[in-house]
Amino acid sequence: MNVLGEVMGFPGAYCRGLLVIVLIGICCSQSRCSASANQEAELLVSASESTGRPMPSTLFGMFFEEINHAGSGGLWAELVRNRGFEAGGPSAPSYIEPWSIIGNGTYLDVGTDRSSLFERNKVALRMEVLCDSTGANICPAGGVGVYNPGFWGMNIQQGKTYNVVFYVRSSGAINLTVSLTGSSGSSLASTNVVASASDGSKWKKVKFLLQAKDTDANSRLQLTTSSKGVIWLDQVSVMPSDTYKGHGFRTDLMEMLLGLKPRFLRFPGGCFVEGAKLRNAFRWKETVGPWEERPGHFGDVWNYWTDDALGHYEFFQLAEDLGAIPVWVFNNGIAHDETVETPLIAPFVQEALDGIEFARGSPSSQWGSLRAKMGHPEPFDLRYVAVGNEDCWKPDYRGKYMKFYQAIKNAYPDMQIISNCDGSSTKLDHPADLYDYHIYSSANGVFSDRHHFDQTSRSGPKVFVSEYAVWKEDAGLGSLLASLAEAAFLLGIEKNSDTVQMASYAPLFANKNDWNWKPDAIVFDSSRVYGTPSYWMQQFFVDSSGGMLLDSKLTTNSSSIVASAISYVSQENKKRYIKIKVVNFGSEMVNLTISISGLDQNSIRSSGSFRTAMMSTNVMDENSFSDPNKVVPIKTLLESAGKDMEVTLPPHSFISFDLLKEPTSIITRRSDASSVPPIDIDNVVQWSEYLLQEA
Ligand code: AHR
Repeated sequence: MNVLGEVMGFPGAYCRGLLVIVLIGICCSQSRCSASANQEAELLVSASESTGRPMPSTLFGMFFEEINHAGSGGLWAELVRNRGFEAGGPSAPSYIEPWSIIGNGTYLDVGTDRSSLFERNKVALRMEVLCDSTGANICPAGGVGVYNPGFWGMNIQQGKTYNVVFYVRSSGAINLTVSLTGSSGSSLASTNVVASASDGSKWKKVKFLLQAKDTDANSRLQLTTSSKGVIWLDQVSVMPSDTYKGHGFRTDLMEMLLGLKPRFLRFPGGCFVEGAKLRNAFRWKETVGPWEERPGHFGDVWNYWTDDALGHYEFFQLAEDLGAIPVWVFNNGIAHDETVETPLIAPFVQEALDGIEFARGSPSSQWGSLRAKMGHPEPFDLRYVAVGNEDCWKPDYRGKYMKFYQAIKNAYPDMQIISNCDGSSTKLDHPADLYDYHIYSSANGVFSDRHHFDQTSRSGPKVFVSEYAVWKEDAGLGSLLASLAEAAFLLGIEKNSDTVQMASYAPLFANKNDWNWKPDAIVFDSSRVYGTPSYWMQQFFVDSSGGMLLDSKLTTNSSSIVASAISYVSQENKKRYIKIKVVNFGSEMVNLTISISGLDQNSIRSSGSFRTAMMSTNVMDENSFSDPNKVVPIKTLLESAGKDMEVTLPPHSFISFDLLKEPTSIITRRSDASSVPPIDIDNVVQWSEYLLQEA
């Protein structure tokens, strides 16, 4: 709980009570605190929309990368890890980790062979059971077999159902017990699979639902038998029945994503797209079609296996489910350690074209028909593609880029093409619609970079800040300090949104059991999730995309204050607000006077206006599983809302004031005015904004 936020949260910036004096050691008298260093600031805002500027509807979105088990063992709800036994490589025998054996060598031999019925992933598990329910070698109680602990424990929840699917064949009759087992060994759900010797002799798909009678976040799947013979298993899957819209996404993680209302989704990486070696890059064709038939691959940059169940199709579905425009980053023949020479790039160009056709081709086209078969006859709304990731400096990037650019523009003239070369300081030497800009830096570095695009040429391609974050010491696992610097950076993005069209934080997710890259926006394990301050910081910006940047001028003797003012229509109640956001990046309290011109005296409603503040007792504070809400925004009513306000900005804080505008006058024009519904000026303004953006 954010004590400061709660105590100071009402009304707005006026300090209240003894607790504040004790906590922050600053003298508060009457209605306003006096900052010890006499830090003052004045923000003049023009509410007039004629001097404002519409911001791109795409401004703030998301970047999903398969890193830190973000997808495999994360957003993708599959509970079985290495479900096809392919993670050990295509040769057999290979290791089967994290599968483990129940029983010892007296009772069974376990290995892999290449007898799978699936052509692109031939490895299957072979289990020779030496014991039996009768005779000289009696199986231990409960039988012998294998278990899978999932991704550091399966979260099995009481009353919920789980779809179990696997493929099996055997040398004789089958009598297999399939159970979800808690960490103490107790069975949470179980069923028996039996088949005659003739039925078992060929690969069969087995499919059923299990309902859990108890909850355990550290459960596992067991397949056991007490019958002698050889059993082969392949593509063993356990999916919770309640994935988001039935699309396979873990619901609690999806809720976190939806909370940011992303306008675009960049995917699937990052370095994940490139691979260290090209053979380990994300190649979209290997990730489509029935999940059982996908070969999967070892992502050799972030060093883990993925079954690619979250594949090309699922990423587009994810974007659609989030209400976000997909931005596909494709492999351009460049890996970290290898580069295809430009004269050999044609197959990669074709692969990119095919990937676009898959997304938006007609259901009768070659690749569009596969999309339709997978369940989405309507095209996905693909409008942006990026030619690789962070490859500008790689051998002949431009030469290869141009091959992609020409072929894609030829086939899809409207496609927005994103170059990896940063054109923010010097002009690009090749055509592009947008270019990537990435920044990972100290808190001061990111804070200062809010001015980065002030001087950028407005005549060239637009900017896509596709990765930004404070990292290393200043960020730790996700500090308040990092989020404040990032907030200031985004305020700079709003100001420069005539040239910056899109921005996304990176990385998005981390499974705490494979926390390879720190910090991240969202941290989770099998059952829990929390947002870091950088996640919550982004919530302050959800109304910016498509909103109106208002003209504002900040005058201050503090070098730590950054502010912006926007006008937006709430997606929840369709009412219009002026939102003023202010970061105090410094350690001093600052008194801020806000004056909004261009409004009638009573045009701000105090009831319905609110203040949202994020701060903490220590600027290095982080959230955690044990204290997930230590640094979160606290929303309170703002009774002092008005066109003139005096507010106080606590040290190291991010505050927004959402001021509800009174609906303005009613216009009627026709003589039969009584039958004409009144026109709400605010809605008229909304339309003009829309037209401006579309122009
Ligand atoms: O976000 C983590 C990594 O940072 C991305 O994979 C890469 O694009 C950047 O270097």
